Parts: sequence; C-alpha cells; structure tokens
Amino acid sequence: MTADSKPASTFRYNEKPTYTTSNGCPVRHPEEFQRIGQNGPILLQDFHLIDLLAHFDRERIPERVVHAKGAGAYGEFEVTHDISDITTIDMLKTVGKKTPAVARFSTVGGEKGSADSARDPRGFSVKFYTDEGNWDWVYNNTPVFFLREPGKFPLFIHTQKRNPQTNLKDATMFWDYLSTHQEAIHQVMTLFSDRGTPYSYRHMNGYSGHTFKWIKKDGTFNYVQIHLKTDQGIKTLNNEEAGKLAGDNPDWHTQDLFEAIQKGDYPSWTVYVQVLSPEQAEKFRWNIFDLTKVWPQKEVPLRPFGKLTLNKNPENYFAEIEQAAFSPSHLVPGVEPSADPVLQSRLFSYPDTHRYRLGVNYQQIPVNAPLRAFNPFQRDGFMAVNGNYGANPNYPSSYRQLTYKPVRATNDHEKWVGAAVSYLSEVTAEDYVQAKGLWDVLGRQPGQQDNFVTNVSTHLAAAKEDTRKRTYEMFSNVDKELGKRIAEATEKLAPAPKSAAAGSANSRL
Ligand code: HEM
Repeated sequence: MTADSKPASTFRYNEKPTYTTSNGCPVRHPEEFQRIGQNGPILLQDFHLIDLLAHFDRERIPERVVHAKGAGAYGEFEVTHDISDITTIDMLKTVGKKTPAVARFSTVGGEKGSADSARDPRGFSVKFYTDEGNWDWVYNNTPVFFLREPGKFPLFIHTQKRNPQTNLKDATMFWDYLSTHQEAIHQVMTLFSDRGTPYSYRHMNGYSGHTFKWIKKDGTFNYVQIHLKTDQGIKTLNNEEAGKLAGDNPDWHTQDLFEAIQKGDYPSWTVYVQVLSPEQAEKFRWNIFDLTKVWPQKEVPLRPFGKLTLNKNPENYFAEIEQAAFSPSHLVPGVEPSADPVLQSRLFSYPDTHRYRLGVNYQQIPVNAPLRAFNPFQRDGFMAVNGNYGANPNYPSSYRQLTYKPVRATNDHEKWVGAAVSYLSEVTAEDYVQAKGLWDVLGRQPGQQDNFVTNVSTHLAAAKEDTRKRTYEMFSNVDKELGKRIAEATEKLAPAPKSAAAGSANSRL
C-alpha cells in the first residue's frame, strides 16, 4: 500500500490526498463536469458528476422510529465491587476489569431535528464490547414505563407523533390515550415532574426498568434490575427554562455532552444492581414483570458494582452513533431476559428495525461489530463487507464433532404450563400506589408539586374538554387534592390553547 492508497475513510484534508471519483479515479476538481462545448448539455459518460449526485440522492437513511434525536460517545466500564456470588457474566467477574463501551442518549417522541429539552423520557443506551460478545443496555432515564402490554407501544407512540391531518403535535391525542390507559400514571407522574426535562444527558440516571435474570455458578438464577446513577448529580430544567432552551439552543444536550468530553470533564455513572431470588419474587407485593412498577429500594437495596465513564467523542457522528444498533436481545452468557412481555417483544423489535434501518449485515458496521464473532452460517446479503467468512466452507462436517453440553438456568419458579391465552391486564387501585408515593416525594422537595401542576396544566390545556375532564379524574385517583389542583390550573388556561402554549414552546411533546 502506498502513502496515497490507505482506506478512504482514514484520509484527512490536511494530508492533501488526491481527489478522486468513488472508484478512485483522480479528478482535477470536484465541481467540474463534462458538457458538449461551452454551453451544451451534459454527458451521461460523466461518471464523476452522476456518481456525486446519485450518492447525494441516497444520503438519508430512515431515522429511528422512536428515539430519533440523540448524542453519543465512547467510554469504559470498570468493575468496582465483587459480585461473583450473584453473577457469572464474564465482564463482571473481576474487580478492576475494564470493558470498552459506546453510549447513546436520546429523546423519544421527536424527529431527528427536534429540541433536546422537550418533555420526554430520555433513552440511555450502552453497548459493551465484552470478551464474550456485545452486551447492550437499552434503558431509559425513568425506572418505569407507560405500559405493560407490548401491543400498546405503537398506539401510544402515535399519540406523540403528528396529527395525520394538521401535521401538528396533538395534546388531545396524547391525554386521550393516557386517561384511558391509567396504568401509565406512575410514568406520567415522573414525566411531568421536572425529571421530564433533564438539564443535560450528563445529569440524569439510567434504569433497566425491566427485570432480567442473572445466572449463578450453580445454574440457578436471580432476578435483577440495573440502575446507573449520575456522578454529576441530578439537575433538571423547569418548564419555562426547557421551553426557552428549545428555541435558543435546541441541541443543548448534544453540545453539553460533546464539549464536556472534549475538555476532559468525563461524565460517569455509578452502577448498581437490585436482586430478588425467585422465591422472594413470588412473595413480592409487586409483579416483577410489570414495567409500570419499581422495586422499592427500602425493600430491595441497591448493590454497587461498577462505574461507566464516557471519555471519547465520536470522529464521525453518522458512522459511529447514527449507525449504532442497540438491542435488549444483544446479550452475553450469564444474563437472560425475564418473562416481562414488553421486554420479550423488544427482543424482536430492535434487530427487526436494525435490518430495516441499516440492513441485514448491521452487525458488520464497525461500531456494532463485536470484538470477535464467528458465524459463517450467516452468509451474503447486502453490504457483506467483512470478508464474508472467506473460504470457510458453508457446512464443514467438523461442526458435528463439537461437543454440546446444554447449560440451562434451573429454578422451579419458571415452569410454565397452560394453553395459549389472549391477555390484557386491568387497571386496579394498586396502579396508583407508587404514583401517589412519587407525589408525596415531590411534596418534600420545595416547589416541585407546584412545578408538576404547572407542567401538566400548560400541556393539558390544549386538549379537548372531555379529555381534560377524564384526565382530572385520573389524577384524582392518585390524590384528590392533586386532581383538584390540576383541574383548577388547567381550566384557567383552557379553552384557549394558544395562551396555554404561550408559556412554553415545550408544552407539547
Ligand atoms: C414494546 C415496547 C417497545 C418497543 C416495541 C420499542 C421499540 C423501539 C424501536 C423500534 C426503537 C428504534 C431502534 C433503532 O432504530 O435502532 C427503539 C429505540 C429505543 N428504545 Fe424502545 N421500544 C419499546 C420500549 C422501550 C422501553 C421500555 C425502553 C426502556 C426501558 C426503551 C428504550 C429505548 C431506547 C433507549 C432506544 C434508543 C436506542 C438507541 O439509542 O439507538 N424502549 N425502541
């Protein structure tokens, strides 16, 4: 390889490489084109111009259907505490062991160009390049979620997307869904507290939300939930600040993360695990497969085990962050999904969307590629760029000689029997208990209950009357006084949606 022939992606302008067509043919000037004479039509033989335009025409790939706006960086995870009594996961085996990682933070509902400060949950994804494959944590900054049945996800997400006719965000659609699916109340309480508008990605926590299974040395397992607590401290925006920022600097969270890392102020998170044995889970008040509930920390304490630090910005956002493909189904030996139906369906949905968004060989894109992989049974397909397993035969008979010793998690707890049933849960009084707990917590933080009422009312005022009324009832189910306060504050602003929105550009998700 000569100096002028290294892979195209590694050249920098200051090295003054020879400009070429995409097939490497030198061209004198990128803006020149071929035509007949001085004023005549252009020529089909001008591969350079056609190549340039045709590539430009195909520049956009589908943005993520949710979590389209985001920012990311590289870093590492370090094990800080011995937890070998509860896990066999290679990455967590030894104190001091470091594993490289890439993280991506995001808002959920808005488009790729939407404002970072929108009231929305935040995505918190990390891909760990472990010695036994890539392990993805595809978490949020809230410990609970809006639903516990997967089929509701597209319906709910559509209420945050644009109205089919007006192409505007639609407060009626949004509250109509929530007031008729009141199992979402715990997440609604979190979202409309100031935690729904974090100051920046560096100042928020991450939560698995779902229950996973960690396998122990003897083959039995525990149920676990993971928490990442920001070492920068929680910092939030109020409704007015978030709305102003949406206009003044809609990319603030992206900028804050990039600049902090660039100047060596590396953000970090302390990582904890909550552990329940299957026997404890059986007797637990809360269904551990119900994503709308937390495991109260007083009953299930947090056990620290590691630290995640982000210390390197990407060189190329599109290549390394936009093309990053995180999935809850990218697991490693020692961790298994629980039976939580929402988690189970996410196992399918993410690789499915990656195949659509990035193509069938998405795992070959450098940011997604594991440290090592050997799977010559997956052959060909668009963009098979890693050598396609070279001369390895499609089916070497030597595979038959591999000894196979099945390792299975053993706990009586998970012996399921029964016929297939169609299932939908009911909302009960239990669904308001943790939401009420959160309302009381806000009451112990000066001004936070007031902010909650403002945050809801400025948004809800834009909804139609029957939807508003149903929503007041929903909040009354949490706390009578809360319902009354929301109703009073909202009716002062309604039915003039313009004045309701005027307080904040952020009042519509
Ligand atoms: C049935 C429920 C859900 C479905 C069907 C679903 C589906 C999706 C899809 C299709 C994407 C786009 C992925 C991509 O294009 O790469 C996505 C992104 C994401 N989802 Fe979900 N989701 C669900 C629930 C959740 C929950 C409960 C959480 C958190 C606990 C979550 C966290 C995320 C995050 C963090 C991303 C962004 C990943 C990234 O940074 O690339 N989702 N989801």
